[in-house]
Amino acid sequence: MLDLCLVNCKLDADPKEVCLGIEDGIIVSIKKLAPNADKTIDLKGKLVLPGLIDAHVHFRDPGLTFKEDFHTGSAAAASGGFTTILDMPNTIPPTNTPKAFREKLKIARKKSLVDFGLHAGVSDLSCIKELVKLKPASFKIFMDLMDHNTLTEAFIKINKAAHGSIISLHAEDGKLVRHFTEMVKKKGSDPELYAKARPPQAEIKAVTTGLSLAKKYNQRIHFCHVSTKESLKLINQGQNSSVDVTSEITPHHLFLDSVYLKGLGNLAKTNPPLRDRKNHLDLNYLPQINIVGTDHAPHTLDEKNMGVWDAPPGVPGLETTLPLLLTQVNQGKIRLKDIKRLLCENPAKIFDIHHKGFIAEGMDADLVVVDMKNEEKINPATFHSKAEYSPFEGFQIKGMPIMTMVRGKTVSDHGKIFKNKGQFVY
Ligand code: DOR
Ligand code: ZN
Ligand code: ZN
Repeated sequence: MLDLCLVNCKLDADPKEVCLGIEDGIIVSIKKLAPNADKTIDLKGKLVLPGLIDAHVHFRDPGLTFKEDFHTGSAAAASGGFTTILDMPNTIPPTNTPKAFREKLKIARKKSLVDFGLHAGVSDLSCIKELVKLKPASFKIFMDLMDHNTLTEAFIKINKAAHGSIISLHAEDGKLVRHFTEMVKKKGSDPELYAKARPPQAEIKAVTTGLSLAKKYNQRIHFCHVSTKESLKLINQGQNSSVDVTSEITPHHLFLDSVYLKGLGNLAKTNPPLRDRKNHLDLNYLPQINIVGTDHAPHTLDEKNMGVWDAPPGVPGLETTLPLLLTQVNQGKIRLKDIKRLLCENPAKIFDIHHKGFIAEGMDADLVVVDMKNEEKINPATFHSKAEYSPFEGFQIKGMPIMTMVRGKTVSDHGKIFKNKGQFVY
């Protein structure tokens, strides 16, 4: 007798329906006929995808929990179809010491409704050695905040102390960003100016630097939120010449361009900024990109209402990403296969999350049930995130996650959130 059986599940574009048998949070059978189970849920032909994995979120816990905390962030994740998140280290204190890492682990274990991993920040060599033992998803470096010598040292240190681990890069060159920001600030305070304050060449320069360091030190790297055609081209060239490198794009960089800054102001302010038509990566580039990460970066509306040079950058993305992408599937512009590759399979492979990312026997029963026919407009008032705004507000969507399970436990059902103890994935 199994714990749970989901009957009449559609697993992809294939119209055949299957039954998923779940025992101890693991998928134990995928069969035409329903096995005996304590509980059976009839999904009536709805589509079931592997739970999404977001390799890039900012939950602000500890230190900035007025913006988001592990409970609200993970509720937003579950409601958006994400069953695993990897949290970034720019909290207070930053997650760059073993002590801070352990503290954040404790918070996540207590509050997270979905499974999680943590990216580590980078400080001194002894910290890196100790941090590796705690299994960070990667070491994250904000290249805009680090000078070149420190960056090179960081590559050497991480490579020495933790060979095989990933360095995740926010790729914007600090010098160029400061130079252009200073210049552009003189032109006033129109939100559109923000795109010019951190121009494409700042990203392209940083990507070039990252690739050459990766090559030199034989270091695995991952570029967060790639936003220009030229950067992607350089990364693809690196991949073709055996640099160990992967790429990520956010939904806002994919679906919006810098024209949106005019109408949306700071709600579209993010680092790197939205790009103009010429530089921006659209859906045609998805086949060359490895993962989609939301870069869920919540701030308060009061902060977002400040002037363009004072408001913090960042867009909340956990509750809009899957609906936006399912809409594209309904419009025939991408396939379900692309969503699985970019948000389930590749994040699991790149960040070494075993037992997740696929619907198969032996895998965790992390599942998201999708209603491909559900049509509505994106409405931030329904968000579980503390950041109840979105540059996508009012976008017409077709296709919604309606139910999310983490290791067989329903955590979100039609917008309602249920208790669950999220686990550390490493
Ligand atoms: O827009 C951004 N927001 N880019 C970053 O790199 C940081 C993030 C944040 O933490 O708010
Ligand atoms: Zn970033
Ligand atoms: Zn980020």
